This record gives sequence, structure tokens and C-alpha cells, in this order.
Amino acid sequence: MKKVLTYGTFDLLHLGHINLLKRAKELGSHLTVGLSTDEFDSLKHKKSYYSFEHRKVILEAIRFVDLVIPEKSWDQKVNDVVSNNIDIFVMGDDWKGHFDYLQEFCEVIYLPRTVGVSTTKIKNELFSGTNG
Ligand code: CTP
Repeated sequence: MKKVLTYGTFDLLHLGHINLLKRAKELGSHLTVGLSTDEFDSLKHKKSYYSFEHRKVILEAIRFVDLVIPEKSWDQKVNDVVSNNIDIFVMGDDWKGHFDYLQEFCEVIYLPRTVGVSTTKIKNELFSGTNG
């Protein structure tokens, strides 16, 4: 039984998120998602439409997701990997190279992003009244 871990904000859930979560789960048999808290997003100058609690309820309803834990800081990943007995760390390839330091503790895989969709794009297009 391989345990997989990924992180993200997952605001305004879209097809790119679902594809990432599905492919992450297929790498093992248990998927943990580290979900950015609203405070951590502020540190990254990000502001979600949905609150942490709201995003967590949505993620927990997805059949590929087994456990949601809060992501509160940049430096918690080693501890999360070790304490949750994680075998594989997965991120979209927009983060390629950033988390190679985790290879000391688990396998690190960057999956290709789904082209043409992001939360930022959705927000911008809804705000400006354009679509696609
Ligand atoms: N992701 C993906 N394909 C997309 C969008 C996101 O595979 N089209 C992946 C990211 O690479 C990450 C995870 O989904 O591993 C969560 O991404 P997140 O940053 O929450 O979503 P984005 O849509 O990229 O949000 P934003 O535009 O705010 O950066």
C-alpha cells in the first residue's frame, strides 16, 4: 500500500485539480492532500474565494481524496512526509524542481498540468466578463 501526498489551494475546484488528484491517487492506494490555510495563502499573497473550511469540505467529498491536512507553512513538508509514512510526493509540473529535497525521504513526482485552466484564469475571466 503506497501513500501519496500532494499540496495546493484548490480554490474554485476545476478540471485541472480533478485530473491532478485522480492521477496522484492512481500512483498509490491512499491520498493525503495538504490544503493551504487562509493564513498561509495570505503569506503567498493569494486570496481564495472559498474559505479553508469550505475548500476542505469540497476536497473531502472527492473520491480520490482520503485525508485532508492543513498546510500552514513552507517548511512542514518533511515532517508531513515522515509522520504520515508517505511513499510518493506529487505536485503539478509548475513546481518542477522545487521539492527535490524531499527525495531523501520519499519519491518525488511532478505531473503535467492540465492545459488551459487555472483558478486565476477563472477569476480573471469571470471578473472581466469573458469566457474561454
Ligand atoms: N494543477 C494542474 N493543472 C491545472 C491547474 C492546477 O495540474 N490546470 C495542479 C497544480 O499543479 C497543483 C494543484 O493542481 O499541483 C493545485 O493547484 P492550485 O495552485 O491550487 O490551482 P491553480 O488553478 O494553479 O491556482 P492558481 O491559479 O490560483 O495558481
